[in-house]
Amino acid sequence: MKICCIGAGYVGGPTMAMIAKQCPDIPVHVVDLNRSRIDAWNSDSLPIYEPGLDEVVREARGRNLTFSTDVESAISEADMIFISVNTPTKTFGMGAGRAANLEFVEKCARQIATVASGHKIVVEKSTLPVRTAGAIKRILGSAGDGASFDVLSNPEFLAEGTAIDDLLDPDRVLIGGDSERAIDTLAAVYRRWIPEQKILTTNLWSSELSKLTANAFLAQRVSSINAISALCEATGADVDEVARAIGTDSRIGPKFLKSSVGFGGSCFQKDILNLVYLCEHFGLHEVAAYWEQVVVMNDYQKRRFAEKIVKTLFNTVSDKKISIWGWAFKKDTNDTRESAAIYVCRDLLREHARLHIYDPRVSRTQILKDLQTVMSDADGQLSPPDQRLIENHVTVASDCYASARDAHAIAVMTEWDEFKTLDYQKIYRAMPQPAFLFDGRNIVDRQALSEVGFEVHAIGKS
Ligand code: UDX
Ligand code: UDX
Repeated sequence: MKICCIGAGYVGGPTMAMIAKQCPDIPVHVVDLNRSRIDAWNSDSLPIYEPGLDEVVREARGRNLTFSTDVESAISEADMIFISVNTPTKTFGMGAGRAANLEFVEKCARQIATVASGHKIVVEKSTLPVRTAGAIKRILGSAGDGASFDVLSNPEFLAEGTAIDDLLDPDRVLIGGDSERAIDTLAAVYRRWIPEQKILTTNLWSSELSKLTANAFLAQRVSSINAISALCEATGADVDEVARAIGTDSRIGPKFLKSSVGFGGSCFQKDILNLVYLCEHFGLHEVAAYWEQVVVMNDYQKRRFAEKIVKTLFNTVSDKKISIWGWAFKKDTNDTRESAAIYVCRDLLREHARLHIYDPRVSRTQILKDLQTVMSDADGQLSPPDQRLIENHVTVASDCYASARDAHAIAVMTEWDEFKTLDYQKIYRAMPQPAFLFDGRNIVDRQALSEVGFEVHAIGKS
């Protein structure tokens, strides 16, 4: 048995590293078109930051885990091929802004059809619209004589920042398909370390739809508590107290009720928009409108946070220094896709604030790239005024202290643990008065910081 995975990203890389670690006798070959990404997987500095990942890769790499750009030979040698390429929201043509761009998935299927011989199991790891497996089957059906395929859906439920724990001990593994034999072959891989009862099997379409639905439900909880946070600020209720009170109801449960400046990440928004598009496609307009509100509420929460900063700073942030703490979409990852920080900073820049940004894991290059992308128009053009704002009003700082020195306000955008244990007396003394702190993650000790002298504004607290 040999495994190959096309796509060495946040999902393909860690998932294959875990399979290789747990199944030392199975060669696992991860391929990607992006040479510098593959070089990084083969180096001491991996392309993604994920706690515990280094150890897993170090154990398996060179033994039964290989990274290369040789897609064709990886496909032809493998018995089981995972497709884990990205499926971003389409930016052009039909369904732009909503539908998933399946170009890369289709290209993978065509390449498999061209190269493969003998019997192969093709596994969808990428999140895909329902019935994509049907299209993949048809493309594979065009393969030459001697090649035959089973197609399975095996969506990934790992969350970034906890990927290794999620892979080691998942709530469940989901495998959708119509061939018992193929399902059992894949289940046998997972059974090496995951108890049988956690391996769920369904038909293909249920598996594909379950992934979109799981992400939609999770994002919906965040948007629901964020909606209540606005009401808390207006009424004097405290959103963390409300979350605790409702979360102890076993029917609701305590997880995913942390109010924030808004959810980010590569999946939630993309998958909900994809669900919305699917519903529209099937004429289910009310269902589409229902789910779209989850994204509308998230956009509102990000905008509301930026507006709160401007209003609180006496209705102008022009030429004021604002210290931004955190750029990643959550702690313990260097991934910045759809991070709330990007949108809040865009709004503040357009108000001519001077931003000093610090994140322990995100590079200066990535921060500037994200700002350039978010401020560009639909054709990817950056207007000269926006270009000047990014050049002249953005500084990437080396730590929180440097970032906050002489700042009118601090905005906490990511819940990095290090923000909880800083010397806030020292930070306060280096800021002009009144010194404001806007906590987009409700992680600082409000009481203690108020005693230091800060005016603290948290989410969902009046
Ligand atoms: C994954 C899933 O594939 C996506 O559908 C899901 O919703 C989230 O997780 P992720 O691993 O986060 O995506 O994406 P990314 O980190 O961008 O990795 C994808 C990799 O595929 C990239 O390294 C890219 O270079 C590679 N790729 C893309 C190919 O090798 N071939 C292609 O044709 C396209
Ligand atoms: C998500 C799903 O959890 C995972 O199962 C799926 O495979 C991929 O998408 P991920 O995006 O990596 O994982 O992280 P997640 O922990 O779900 O957080 C997503 C966003 O929601 C982050 O910006 C996070 O800060 C935010 N969030 C999460 C909140 O604001 N409040 C919460 O209570 C939980």
